[in-house]
Amino acid sequence: MSELTPDDQPNQDSNSVSASPESDAVLSVRSLSKSFGGIDAVSNVSFNVAKAELLALIGPNGAGKTTCFNMLMGQLKPTTGTVHLDGENITGKLPRQVWRKGVGRTFQITGTYQSMTVIENVQMALLSHNRRLFEIRSYAHKQYQGEAKDLLALVGMQDQAERACAVLAYGDLKRLELAIALAHSPKLLLMDEPTAGMAPKERIALMKLTADIVSQRNISALFTEHDMDVVFAHAHRVMVLNRGEIIANGSVDDVRNNTQVQEVYLGGGTLFQSNNTDKHA
Ligand SMILES: Nc1ncnc2c1ncn2[C@@H]1O[C@H](COP(=O)(O)OP(=O)(O)OP(=O)(O)O)[C@@H](O)[C@H]1O
Ligand SMILES: [Mg+2]
Repeated sequence: MSELTPDDQPNQDSNSVSASPESDAVLSVRSLSKSFGGIDAVSNVSFNVAKAELLALIGPNGAGKTTCFNMLMGQLKPTTGTVHLDGENITGKLPRQVWRKGVGRTFQITGTYQSMTVIENVQMALLSHNRRLFEIRSYAHKQYQGEAKDLLALVGMQDQAERACAVLAYGDLKRLELAIALAHSPKLLLMDEPTAGMAPKERIALMKLTADIVSQRNISALFTEHDMDVVFAHAHRVMVLNRGEIIANGSVDDVRNNTQVQEVYLGGGTLFQSNNTDKHA
């Protein structure tokens, strides 16, 4: 086991703090903090997400991951700090405005229209993206059918297009949610525990699919995840949040071998229990 060298320390590498947002980063976060009363849920967090990068944000329960996501997406106003998307300051913008700027989000609890079919859900997202929701009439089912089919094929759901969402298996709902997020042609995907509630094999498959899409479409993704097999298998880079602060930021190997990270997780007892981690050693 090796400790991080001073050069590897968070806030010292090319993805950490600088005076101004980096022009080539899709997302630049600087000194972001959120306090709830006396609790510093997120404290002075700075990082970049590069183009086509799949970046994992990990940390024990209560570390501040969802709070961080909520500030990026506009659900929460930061106490301090800034968020830039493609160089544009989006700090404090409303969720809908952030979404229009090109940030897609998937949620821990999947949100689809249960009474509609799979393809209708994707068509709704495409209509919304193209600002044509007001045109929904009896012929809505004909709108964007080709694009919707393409998106369903992308996530391997083409054979289930006509099924009602209410009868879908959980893993299929998560893939549909990904297709819906992609309907808005995002430059950045924010995925808060995208594999929560899934079986281990399904988790790996969903993240592999996400990794393939990120690379094919040249989009970036920031995701939180508790399953370390998923993180170690697919993330290009990993950031570790503990009590609101980034304690590590580097490659999968850097983070796995970081003694501070191991202490945080072994103390919490949840991180390195995988029986599969040897393959990454
Ligand atoms: N609306 C709120 N009001 C008060 N405290 C909050 C609020 N939202 C979050 N917190 C607190 O902020 C801290 C960070 O919570 P957060 O949900 O961001 O953690 P997390 O890393 O997403 O955890 P998990 O892995 O369990 O999802 C926790 O102490 C939590 O209790
Ligand atoms: Mg959370």
